This record gives sequence, structure tokens and C-alpha cells, in this order.
Amino acid sequence: MPYTNEQIAALVRADSVHKSVYTDSALFQLEMERIYGCAWIYVGHESQVPNAGDFCATRIGDQDVILVRATDGKVHVLYNRCPHRGAKLVADGCGHAGKFFRCPYHAWTFQLDGSHLAAPLKAAFEGSCFDPQHPDFSVRPVARVESHRGFVFASQAAQGIGLKSFLGGVISSIDNLCDRSPVGEVEVAGGMFRVLQTSNWKVFYENLHDTMHAPVTHESSVVAAREQAQKMGAMPLELHIMVGNGEPYRFWENLELCAYAHGHGYMEGIFDPGAASRDPVTRAHFAVLEQAYGHARASEILGMNRHNTIIYGSGSPHTVFQQFRVIRPLAVDRTMIEIQLFRLKGAPEAVFKRTLMYANIINAPSSNVMADDVELYARCQQGNLSRGGDWTSLHRHLGTDRAVPGGMVSSNGTSELPMRNQFQAWKQYMLGHLVEENCDAA
Ligand code: FES
Ligand SMILES: [Fe+2]
Repeated sequence: MPYTNEQIAALVRADSVHKSVYTDSALFQLEMERIYGCAWIYVGHESQVPNAGDFCATRIGDQDVILVRATDGKVHVLYNRCPHRGAKLVADGCGHAGKFFRCPYHAWTFQLDGSHLAAPLKAAFEGSCFDPQHPDFSVRPVARVESHRGFVFASQAAQGIGLKSFLGGVISSIDNLCDRSPVGEVEVAGGMFRVLQTSNWKVFYENLHDTMHAPVTHESSVVAAREQAQKMGAMPLELHIMVGNGEPYRFWENLELCAYAHGHGYMEGIFDPGAASRDPVTRAHFAVLEQAYGHARASEILGMNRHNTIIYGSGSPHTVFQQFRVIRPLAVDRTMIEIQLFRLKGAPEAVFKRTLMYANIINAPSSNVMADDVELYARCQQGNLSRGGDWTSLHRHLGTDRAVPGGMVSSNGTSELPMRNQFQAWKQYMLGHLVEENCDAA
């Protein structure tokens, strides 16, 4: 039975949400239309397709799409569907198409921008309405594509606000990630980790700014790291980043949480910046930035201490450790996390090694930390399927947040402001309010 707007509105209260937002596949389908069918979603980075003919198959919500670089150097995003009989034009993963795409089924061929090039035995179409110029016989492009400093986003809606307006305050996290390179550019490197989670996509977004879980869920790795450091008589960065989760509640309360329109936000860094400045890798990094930008600007760039940023619907860039956890919803109870790592062009190689180290220790499928979260996400999914109650609580520090330009800031880092903010955006999307603002699909 389709949901009415009244029913959707009733699922989100100021202080709680109905558990069906995580478990009902009809709502998941609506999300694919009203959120993923409309908002700007991160598709991939231009460095993944450096040469003409390079492509990567990926997803926007429930849609298979291709990120491809065309002969003129432009990056396009196409639906991964041959217009003949609908075969997926390219298989999953990245590759090189050569000068054109050739469908593996009946050899229709397409330019790299998707336009129709040829079909075998042309005479067979005589007398039909087959028209190679007509868009029906080309690979369909996703309606809008915009790139910000190499980060390619696409919107399936033909009209709406531009990418910069959509990103609002969190664009500064993408800028800071790029500014950490002395030439202002980053590239995807080091392969990609993938983590399949048996839970709803929204749980992941909520957890990114959920400071109350860190010392509890990650207790085992904190204790192990402390014991190891004691044995060694030192706290190398590898252990320092694990121990970070074990800070007392007082520490988390002092952090800043920022929440912006469209469900975005960021959380202040959790690692002591003083520790980083004592670290030789950071000092070497600072030296190249200082040479490129001068002392004041280099201090400003490395001084922006952010932990997770949330770009709602796309994922979470992490500026300090140069990664982007891209969140791809697969089903109401299945979510794929793709962890892209970035090399800062022109920065010492040791900075990239630290990126790899952070991903391996914190976020990889076999890391000491991610596995804890994945287990808890699955438990939320399972618990919410039981008859043990209908609502999940978002009460922490309700009503204490301050308004800032473009959004809200929490007065306490343990606030559930980020979750409340995400669900306000979710509700607006699902009721079509953001559809009017972002796209013409209403
Ligand atoms: S399905 Fe692609 S050529 Fe037939
Ligand atoms: Fe966690």
C-alpha cells in the first residue's frame, strides 16, 4: 500500500523516529525515488578515469551508472543500460572501453558520451522508426553532472539547485581535503575497501556523528591498544588512533557538531592536533604546504581539525586521513560501504602511507574498529524487526542546539542533533519539499 504524506510525516517526530524507516522495503523504494532520485549524489572522482575511454561502473541509489571520460576530456555519467534490449553495457568495476562502448549482446556501439554510433546490419532497420539521432537509441545520460575539485556528483533530476548550494557548509571539508595537497589536488589511490553491511543505510549516517557509542562499542580495541602501548612504553600513531575512541564522556561533550540543510554536517576532530605536530610525517607535510602557501595559510589548512563529515546520501569524507567512505544503499537491510583513499598530489609519500594505515586499522573490513560497528548496525536491524517497541529515541540534548548560518551547531558533542537533522531532511525529501527545491520530479 503506498504511503500518504500524512503517514510519512508521522514517522518522524522531533525526538524519535518510527522503526519502519529502517525496515520497510516500501519506504526504501520511496527513498530511492525521492532522495536518491533527486539529490546530488557522489558518483566518483575524476582521477578514477584519467584517460579518454576509462570508465567505472557504480551506483546512484538503486541505479547502475557509468562514470566515463570521453574523447574531449569531459567526464560523463550514463545509465548502465544498452538502449537495444537493456543489457548492462559494462560489467561491475573499472576498465577501459577504447574509443567507444560496444554492447556485449548484439554489438550496438556508442560514443563515450553515450550517443549512438552504429548497429550491425543497418538495412534491417529500414521501414522502422529506428533513428540513430533519436535519444531513444543512445545510452541515456544522468540528468545533471557537476564536479567540485575532481569530486563528481550527479543528480537524476533535470532541474534544481546547483551542487555548491546543495553542499552548503560541508563543501569546506572537500576543499580542505584538496588544500592539504601543495598543488591543491587529490587522486584516488591504493585500491578500494568494500564492507557489506546487513543493515539500513541510514544507521551508518547516524553512527558517523554518534559520539556516545565510541567508548562502549570500541572498548575492546581501546583496551588492547592501551595494553600494547604500556608494554612498548610508547604510543605510536597506530595505537593513538585506536585509543582515541576510549576518551571519557567529558571529552566527547566538548566536541562541536555542526548540522546543515539537506542532512549534511561535520564533527570536530577527535585526535589531539598537538600530537600530530610532534609527529615527523605531519612536520614534513607542513613544510611542503608552507612552501606552497606560506606559513599562515599552511597553519590554517592543517589546523582545520575535522573528524567525519557527512554528505547525506553520498557518504563521509575524512579530511585529516584523506578518505571518503561512500555509502551505497542496496536494499532496506543491505548497504555497501566503499572506502576510497586519496593521495595528496605533491605531498610526502609518508602522508599517503598514514592514510593506508588509518584505513587498515579503523575502517577496513578486517580492521580492529569497523567490525564492532558492523555488528551493532546488524543488531539495530534485527532488534527493530522485533515487536519490542516501535520508536527509536533521539532525545539527547533536544532543544539545546544553536542556530548558525546555514544550519545548527550543538552545544554538546554528545547531542543527537545530527540524527534529528538527518531525519528532518529525510522527511522533507520524502514529503516532496526538497523535491521541489532540488528537482522537477514532483
Ligand atoms: S542489448 Fe545491447 S546490443 Fe542488444
Ligand atoms: Fe564506531
